[in-house]
Amino acid sequence: MKKIILNNYDEVSRAAADVYVQQLRNKPDSVLGLATGSTPLGLYAELVRKYQSGEIDFSKACSFNLDEYYPIRKSHPQSYDSFMHANLFSKVNFAQSRLPNGEAEDPQAECIKYDAEIEAAGGIDLQLLGIGLNGHIGFNEPSASYPMSTNLVKLTESTLKANSRFFDASDSQPTQALTMGFGAIFHAKSILLIITGANKAPVSRKLFDGVIHTDIPASLLLLHPDVTVIMDREASGANGA
Ligand code: GLP
Repeated sequence: MKKIILNNYDEVSRAAADVYVQQLRNKPDSVLGLATGSTPLGLYAELVRKYQSGEIDFSKACSFNLDEYYPIRKSHPQSYDSFMHANLFSKVNFAQSRLPNGEAEDPQAECIKYDAEIEAAGGIDLQLLGIGLNGHIGFNEPSASYPMSTNLVKLTESTLKANSRFFDASDSQPTQALTMGFGAIFHAKSILLIITGANKAPVSRKLFDGVIHTDIPASLLLLHPDVTVIMDREASGANGA
């Protein structure tokens, strides 16, 4: 696991965007695994800026997102579908983009279909990840066992609380989600994990303490041969957090 510590959120966003410039230069038809959450917002803004200035082109690339709430209407302002359209897909030129379908009537069938589509695309070249406060990646919550395939999961209290800030009181917050499993994530040729903010310092400290913590899903990334972690000083705990 390669660790890069930068001064702040903006530097992390710019460095992460440079990884995409390089990736698409090397392989214009890359299959990109994308993530949601507040951490990649700066990266997506930077990718939009680079696209507008002609520095990056997604026209041959396709993307698969890690996860989506379930059930949720795609048009719901807090669906990950809406998030991706608002922050990236409506502003750049991906050949094709796919998220797990939060409207699917049969979630199990949707999971099988999603994995088959990732496989048909040749698997993921570069998988972007954020990390939850409890160490989850995608919506793979801490557990005694981790499914390989895309699956329907029940969100933990910690995740529901962390994400409740996005739903107002009149809205019922989905308590389940469809998430890529460890199979698609681990088969990605390379993985880029971005971690920012002091509230992530406790979990990122555990990520780098030289031990695989089975109750911290991100800890399993230590076993992947090509993971780059770009983090800011706050998340690294360097500021005493
Ligand atoms: C969500 C997403 C994750 C994301 C995590 C952290 O639960 N499913 O993919 O990494 O939250 O989000 P944030 O970047 O807002 O801290």
